[in-house]
Amino acid sequence: MFENYQAPKELIPSDPRFGCGPSLIPVEYLHKLAATGVHLMGTSHRKSPVKNVVKDVQEGLKNYFDVPKDYSVVVGNGGATLLFDMIGLGVVEKSSLHFTCGEFSEKWYKAHKLIPWIKATQNCVLPGEGLNPQMTHGHDMICGTLNETSTGVMISKLPTVTNDTLLAIDATSGAGQVPCDLSKVDLFFFSPQKVFASEGGLFVAIMSPKARDRALKIAQDKGRYVPDIMNWAQAIDNSDKNQTYNTPAIATLFFLREQVARMNQIGRKAVEADGNKKAELIYQWAESRPYLKPYVKDPQYRSNVVATIDVDDKVDTMALIALWEKQKIVYGIDAYRKLGRNQFRISMFHNIRFEDLESLTKLIDHAIKTVL
Ligand SMILES: Cc1ncc(COP(=O)(O)O)c(C=O)c1O
Repeated sequence: MFENYQAPKELIPSDPRFGCGPSLIPVEYLHKLAATGVHLMGTSHRKSPVKNVVKDVQEGLKNYFDVPKDYSVVVGNGGATLLFDMIGLGVVEKSSLHFTCGEFSEKWYKAHKLIPWIKATQNCVLPGEGLNPQMTHGHDMICGTLNETSTGVMISKLPTVTNDTLLAIDATSGAGQVPCDLSKVDLFFFSPQKVFASEGGLFVAIMSPKARDRALKIAQDKGRYVPDIMNWAQAIDNSDKNQTYNTPAIATLFFLREQVARMNQIGRKAVEADGNKKAELIYQWAESRPYLKPYVKDPQYRSNVVATIDVDDKVDTMALIALWEKQKIVYGIDAYRKLGRNQFRISMFHNIRFEDLESLTKLIDHAIKTVL
């Protein structure tokens, strides 16, 4: 359909990366890492150069999220997917309630459901719809997903949970840009390859004392078999010493430190406002074009990090995406694969420039007008 399509030079974004994770890592971070030469990459994570990077990340995140002093920033290998199991095995006492609205929230629920000694329950809505987690008695953990990356739905309000209940939030694609009051959350976790512009493979779990106490208590329970790699007592103990339990990827930590420092300079409120401005641009654009429509109908749940935009069926979005990837001008705007929609999914993460999002909207308009 787009075989002969030529993108006008003036509409080509300055950076082609619009994917929802892995996301745009600023090129200056790559140069900065290269400039460390022989003094960081290939050195031990038990020695101070790497431990200092971990410490900067931990302190930087505490500052950025303005968390109470007694919260812990736990880091380890395995990413958010590992935490789905690790939380079920080691932080849920008897019962978790999951508010699910797409692929990732369901994955977390399914991981808990497989654990024989806990009961996992789901409260779900259809893909493209949103729901906010609610305090519900009878469960010792309430689970929500700050931003459902598969559908572009974000949480708009958090509940206050009672004393014996923990609120756990998978913040993987929203952390840092979707507004969230961490003083309400006991376990706020994410992988850093989204707003935090790093590589995958690492998890960050910001824990309240309540969550930490629960994890440490369960770790004492000899009747529960938990693999060492998922042992919370070890993860917490190592993180307290600015280390990970097993060997980490140093580049991941390095990029994360750079991005946390950058976001701290700007401040969380300004980063969130910047995300809202990008979201306004994309959704207003989509609403004003007859061939586009925001997939998420209810504006309160429309994400300010991941926009999902349905496209008229007469337009072959896959052909256009393939062409632009081949020409190296736009990467990663395809819909989440299992959603199976004729859709663009566009990330609005902090490092993606507003001007580049503007160019992308104009480029899409231009291409579609040549075929409709
Ligand atoms: C909301 C959400 N949760 C969890 C994950 C899994 O993260 P990872 O692949 O780093 O384990 C993702 C990945 O995209 C995600 O978007």
